[in-house]
Amino acid sequence: MRVLGIETTCDETAASVVERGEDGSARILSNVVLSQVKKHAAYGGVVPEIASRAHIDAIDRVVAQALTDAETDISDIDGVSAAAGPGLIGGVIVGLTTAKALAFAAGKPFLAVNHLEGHALTARLTDGVEFPYLLLLVSGGHSQLLAVEGVGKYRRLGTTIDDAIGEAFDKVAKLLGLGYPGGPQVEKAAESGDSSRFNFPRPMIGRAEPNFSLAGLKTAVRIEAEKIAPLSDRDIADLCASFQAAVIDMVLDRVRVALQMFKAQFGHPSALVVAGGVAANAALRGGLERMSEHFRVKLVAPPLDLCGDNGAMIAWAGAERLALGLTDPLDTAPRARWPL
Ligand code: KG4
Ligand code: ZN
Repeated sequence: MRVLGIETTCDETAASVVERGEDGSARILSNVVLSQVKKHAAYGGVVPEIASRAHIDAIDRVVAQALTDAETDISDIDGVSAAAGPGLIGGVIVGLTTAKALAFAAGKPFLAVNHLEGHALTARLTDGVEFPYLLLLVSGGHSQLLAVEGVGKYRRLGTTIDDAIGEAFDKVAKLLGLGYPGGPQVEKAAESGDSSRFNFPRPMIGRAEPNFSLAGLKTAVRIEAEKIAPLSDRDIADLCASFQAAVIDMVLDRVRVALQMFKAQFGHPSALVVAGGVAANAALRGGLERMSEHFRVKLVAPPLDLCGDNGAMIAWAGAERLALGLTDPLDTAPRARWPL
């Protein structure tokens, strides 16, 4: 079956056609991602009103391109899916309404996908990972550890009690005068920095629940930066390296706790999957690699273009749902908040 998926929950206007075989095999026939990042860069973050308008401007073109690239036509599509949330509500409405209109006009099933479910199931699209697996979802809006037991069966083991991890990278980048989005900039600056120069706190380490906390760490970076201002390039590199090291230490400790929890409840996971934009961070991937070897769990990290927001993950989650007959009515409401 072929599913067209649409993603507009944040600052990417994206559409994709994915094919799912009866045996669960997957093929991405097209994957068009139009980033609005340049439109938001001047503001140091995503401006919701600008995002909504940019989605409206781009959505028709992006969907048409996804169908053209896949060398297919809406009549050959078996279902149309869209991320119905969580996310910036103006953007969500644009993608959801477009998908509903296409499904209605073409007489195809409609699928309302949770954006987080899209991230959660990507490892099955890219690597055919079997259930159950442990998912570390780290993006600009979310930081969660989830037990993925099946399509629609997600158990949250831990989450952030304040900022998301990507959000903390973005805020640190902003206060150090680096560009937006901050994650890649902080990682780049950290490469030449000394991670032992500043001994930043490692929040939550040792706690029994695998939750995250980033607010105190971000504040510690700000206080240190203010103390040594004006900042040289060396200072910025050392601050970034020390911040990144603290985040990674915390994440690895939290994943370790979640793995133990997972094993106690569901047995040995088929994989440790990392997803979301922060999964692009090479130092984090390296740490997870070492830890997964230690725990003898396979680490699955989707390719970079499928780590960030994209249409293929929404199309794939739609295909997985469609295969189970889990279609949605056309009056499904968009949702700004929608925990898995
Ligand atoms: O999944 P994503 O594309 O969008 C959301 O759903 O949020 O994630 C974007 C987030 C941003 O906060 C960005 O700064 C962060 O992922 N990010 C990174 C890296 N690349 C992107 N954080 C740390 N290191 C990176 N290399
Ligand atoms: Zn996302």
